[in-house]
Amino acid sequence: MNKLIDILEKSKKYLEDNKVENPRIETELILSQVLNLDRIMLYAYFDRELNDDEVSEIRALLKSKINSGEIPGKNDEISMKTLMDQSIKYLENHQIEEARLTVELIFSYVLSVDRMMLFTKYAVQPEEESKNKIRNLLKLRAKDKIPLQYLLNEEEFYGRPFYINKGVLIPRNETEIVVERALEELKGITAPNVLDIGAGSGVISITIAKEKTDSKILGVDISDNALEIANKNKSLLKADNVKFLKSNLFQEVNYHNFDMIISNPPYIPKSEYDTLSDDVRMHEPEEALMAENEGLFFYYEISKSAVDYLKNGGKLIFECGYNQAEIIENIMKEAGYKNIEIFKDLNGINRGITGCIFKEE
Ligand SMILES: C[S@@+](CC[C@H](N)C(=O)[O-])C[C@H]1O[C@@H](n2cnc3c(N)ncnc32)[C@H](O)[C@@H]1O
Repeated sequence: MNKLIDILEKSKKYLEDNKVENPRIETELILSQVLNLDRIMLYAYFDRELNDDEVSEIRALLKSKINSGEIPGKNDEISMKTLMDQSIKYLENHQIEEARLTVELIFSYVLSVDRMMLFTKYAVQPEEESKNKIRNLLKLRAKDKIPLQYLLNEEEFYGRPFYINKGVLIPRNETEIVVERALEELKGITAPNVLDIGAGSGVISITIAKEKTDSKILGVDISDNALEIANKNKSLLKADNVKFLKSNLFQEVNYHNFDMIISNPPYIPKSEYDTLSDDVRMHEPEEALMAENEGLFFYYEISKSAVDYLKNGGKLIFECGYNQAEIIENIMKEAGYKNIEIFKDLNGINRGITGCIFKEE
């Protein structure tokens, strides 16, 4: 039983016991914030039942109150530095990793100040409107577990800002290693044609296009959402040598003379889906993550078909899951690839695999 009046009394007692000043007012402020009710209206709803989420948020805010003195953004006289410190505590109390970095990114976004220059504004008192925006973002991150990249609609990849929303997978650092390897392989090739399968937000296609300016890239994806975002990034980043096309794998691809085919396909086995973090499971598109056949479906399909789409000596390069490289090596061998090499990410985990196809002339 979580009646509002009971929670109010218990919370007040908790703050009293922890020597917080004005425990009744502080309790009322917390409850009115969580329940979105005017403070004086709380007593009109005294027998309302609170749900578990509401109770756990109240609990977190009470803890935050004790640990840091203030609920982020509720004190009119607050300096930015204090507000940042309270926000960090608030996220930590909600078990959010990298709380400091998250807070810095939120503040820098809302206040339009470069993250590295935030310290120059420490003494400033943020305006009410900015504080409300900050509080709202903190809540969405802490309570709803929405990844920060979706809240700020941005993720950096290979030093460039990409627009991101819930329609696409958030680009991962590991993928930069795969792109780096692809660029190395493309070094000696003039005006290469590259196919990126499962382009998502377009990070792989666009990065190769920008880094290897004489290349021509075709990025395909089955998802309309992904294609919309990839095209948005293409124009934001002015990548004229990239084209995006809706295609189920190779279905709509007519060109058969690619120098390279690259793919970071969905590779999480169904059996591992439940072990992913809440952030990933609740918010990232399932179809961008999960694959049949123990996560190997796309490696079989792409390795087999790519033979017909690569030129003689053309290269296939994959990103893969932490324990998949050796199995994919066999899949590629079976499909006829030579010079197969597995490469590691910065954590020393097998993260990618590349191979070459040689055709009878
Ligand atoms: C792991 S995400 C990679 C996104 C992006 N390339 C990156 O590295 O961040 C896989 C992508 O494959 C796409 N996809 C899934 N099935 C596909 C299919 N049958 N044909 C083409 N794309 C597919 C998904 O929509 C998703 O965008």
